[in-house]
Amino acid sequence: MQQTYEQHFYDVVIVGSGLAGQRAALEVAPFARTAVISKVYPTRSHSGAAQGGIAAALGNVDEDTWQQHHFDTVKGSDYLADQDAAEIMVRDAAQVVIELEHMGTPFSRLPDGRIAQRNFGGHKYKRACYSADLTGHVMLHTLYEQCLKYGTKFYNEFFVTRLFMKEGRCIGLSAVNLADGKLHSFFAKAVLIATGGGGRAFSITATAHATTGDGFALAYRAGIPLEDMEFMQFHPTGLYKLGILVTEGARGEGGYLINGKGERFMEKYAPGMMELAPRDITSRSEQTEINEGRGIDGKDYIYLDLRHLGKEKILERLPQIHDLVFKSLGVDCIKEPIPIQPTAHYTMGGIPANLDGQVTIDSENTIVPGLFSAGETSCISVHGANRLGCNSLLDAVCFGRRAGKAMAKYITGASMPDIDEEQIKVSVKELDEFKSRKGEEKVASLREQLQKGMMVRCGIFRDSEKLSAQLADIRKLRGRFQNIGLEDSTSNYNFELMEALECSWLFDFSEAMVLGALKREESRGAHSRTDFPKRDDEKFLKHTLIYKTDGEPRVEYKPVVITAFQPQERKY
Ligand code: FUM
Repeated sequence: MQQTYEQHFYDVVIVGSGLAGQRAALEVAPFARTAVISKVYPTRSHSGAAQGGIAAALGNVDEDTWQQHHFDTVKGSDYLADQDAAEIMVRDAAQVVIELEHMGTPFSRLPDGRIAQRNFGGHKYKRACYSADLTGHVMLHTLYEQCLKYGTKFYNEFFVTRLFMKEGRCIGLSAVNLADGKLHSFFAKAVLIATGGGGRAFSITATAHATTGDGFALAYRAGIPLEDMEFMQFHPTGLYKLGILVTEGARGEGGYLINGKGERFMEKYAPGMMELAPRDITSRSEQTEINEGRGIDGKDYIYLDLRHLGKEKILERLPQIHDLVFKSLGVDCIKEPIPIQPTAHYTMGGIPANLDGQVTIDSENTIVPGLFSAGETSCISVHGANRLGCNSLLDAVCFGRRAGKAMAKYITGASMPDIDEEQIKVSVKELDEFKSRKGEEKVASLREQLQKGMMVRCGIFRDSEKLSAQLADIRKLRGRFQNIGLEDSTSNYNFELMEALECSWLFDFSEAMVLGALKREESRGAHSRTDFPKRDDEKFLKHTLIYKTDGEPRVEYKPVVITAFQPQERKY
């Protein structure tokens, strides 16, 4: 064994420095010794890539209400969202946005100085509060400043390898300092997981290289189920072949989707909302056009056309998009349409958590002491089978804030866990074993096979045959993964080791997703089964829970919370 170790003790340890993690830290840091552990530098967290806005029924432009936001969110979710949770989120929305404004977030403004709001998919009114097309970026910077001000300790470029569980309670975790390869252990009264999504399980994705499903796998391996993993959101506008996000704000500002025949094809699929239908419907419509040969020149892409918006509006409202599209594809979107395709974007499912972000373990919502989750990694569940755009930033800050408050309360009655040498030993052994693999297989090749398979077999359209084949493949790839060879034995910034660990997370993430998708024999929201094309409320108006076991993962279900709106057919 070659690592040296350091031990740390905090009241609260937060894994992940995106909006959910930092918002939680800000809430608890004034009262408690708080650490944030992040595998990237905090302002490079993937929340910073969120472009178009954060939803809140401020009513600055239209006569909006939180009740309408609630309805839009539940309908958007294809009635799988827990309606009590969605209600809390939309009711808190105005306050969390105004708090962010007061912290210094530079939102775009109306001429009278109030926060500007734009259209977004699935929302009846102009509800997205934005900062040009850099909303996540400016929010992240604002929160980071605040977290530093309140004394949060950041462990940047630390990679968490394992949660420490003792008698059903979470007592801490182990993490490698990427700068020198040393393994550290952290013990805490409360741990919050907020590591973002797992878009990197797919070959075409809008998400950062760091989004490798870490938090999902950490929890899954610790005996926590994963909820509703089958619901993966494909954003309708990813740059062709690259997947890079072109914000829905571009359609919110009036952009058109055009097929190879020059038609605004959304007229066929969602005549009421056109390009601003929810993402599941829009992405499916695009894919249908492509599959039926109506892509541009019959190929696998279509156009997002912004030309009619004019130079001034494009440069004022969508400056980053203009720059990004030009730098990535050499396309000037003031003069030319943008080639786009659906791109893997957001994981609707995740670690089950209650309204205060406390992780739960079963269909009775039994709480796991000491463990919290918020943001994309969690499933509270406010997005159900399909998230509306701009509700992700809202979810992150709303439930990050609530989890922070809940942890502040929780730690007053919780004891500090003792050092657990056994847990440390297991972590050290695990990492040593990993580092010493000298087999023939290459991580990059296994990851690429996984990503391509996920895209083709667990993408927008799924069926039993494709999903079964993908599940079998994941297991084969995971078997081959035991035989990987790591060539880099250095300690500082050993990215080969980090990528191997990340790839192992992706197998768990993908297995839960594909298995959930295979078992859900219906079509709902982002989960489209060509062999079961209809929603089936009788059998599947329920949340999936997948548990890791030594053999076949166990699948259970739990009821959906319905308070205000009975399920109806979705029409847009
Ligand atoms: O299109 C976008 O700007 C993405 C926003 C979101 O996913 O909420």
